[in-house]
Amino acid sequence: MCRLGASTMAQFTGGDDYQAEFDPKAYLGYFKFGEDTLGEKYLNFALKHYCKTFTSGVVKGDTLIDIGSGPTIHQLLSACESFKEIIASDYTDWNLRELEKWLKNEPEAFDWTPVVKYVSHVPWKGN
Ligand SMILES: C[S@@+](CC[C@H](N)C(=O)[O-])C[C@H]1O[C@@H](n2cnc3c(N)ncnc32)[C@H](O)[C@@H]1O
Repeated sequence: MCRLGASTMAQFTGGDDYQAEFDPKAYLGYFKFGEDTLGEKYLNFALKHYCKTFTSGVVKGDTLIDIGSGPTIHQLLSACESFKEIIASDYTDWNLRELEKWLKNEPEAFDWTPVVKYVSHVPWKGN
């Protein structure tokens, strides 16, 4: 079983100002199938390699801590079988709120169903 929690991390003192500039809704726009976009190409690539990594049997354990999860869970789906607990974390309130909406099954939560189905289907297994 995959359990997911959200926790805040200490703010990084340099680089991008995610709290002020990162837009979770815009970012989530890249995680939709059905459009031949750069987002879909990235999603296909990332899901394939997350699957290969987590089904290899090499990366496994009790707790997986994902630092900088953003508003997304696609990166964690293939890990559900390899870890007892998964902790998603991000330091921006907006991203944590997006994850919370999904955890609580709120109506305005991003619909991860197509991505979950795609990962479950494992079209690239053995490739
Ligand atoms: C480009 S997004 C990546 C989101 C997601 N991991 C993915 O693979 O699509 C980078 C995320 O890292 C978060 N982040 C940046 N620095 C961080 C820090 N020091 N601690 C926690 N989260 C951080 C940002 O808020 C942002 O949501």
